[in-house]
Amino acid sequence: MNNTRSIHNLALIGFMGTGKSCVGRLAADVLHFTFLDTDHVIEARAGKAVSDIFAQDGEPAFRQWERRVVEELIRREKTVIATGGGLPADEANLASLKTHALVICLWASPEAIWERVRGHDHRPLLNQADPLARIRQLLAVREPYYRQADVLVNTEMRSVREVAQHVIHQFHMAQSAPR
Ligand code: S3P
Repeated sequence: MNNTRSIHNLALIGFMGTGKSCVGRLAADVLHFTFLDTDHVIEARAGKAVSDIFAQDGEPAFRQWERRVVEELIRREKTVIATGGGLPADEANLASLKTHALVICLWASPEAIWERVRGHDHRPLLNQADPLARIRQLLAVREPYYRQADVLVNTEMRSVREVAQHVIHQFHMAQSAPR
């Protein structure tokens, strides 16, 4: 799949709370790219919040929405894409993103993620008795997928601006490198 790549978009993957949306918005501003958040596209299409899709239709229905959106992303140009945390935990989704985007994974430890997401109640997968244990468990399952990103960026001890600068630098390098 990699030898058919044409990198003209930037995809940010990573666990909930790693800053994909904040970093993505800033990077899109600097690059003069469009910003797209897959969760927002799904909410607009479904006409309801992600948490309601999970509650009313179930997680498999949400994953189906994600796959559909990923297929459409192939046609995008000059777009910074922030994906839902579980979207790349599907080989086909990841492979599809890689055909047109540099895939950058934002990383943080379970403890740092918990610090960032606690108090937010819009993430159905973390509405559990022991959210930190759930984060650890999900992160362990997803790590092999996240590690397939082109670049892994540790977001701990770094501001959104610093992470965005790093991401933009990596994107410029990828565009100038022969593939
Ligand atoms: C999910 C992450 C969420 C959202 C949904 C499921 C996941 O997106 O797609 O709640 O499976 O990790 P964020 O990563 O933007 O919070």
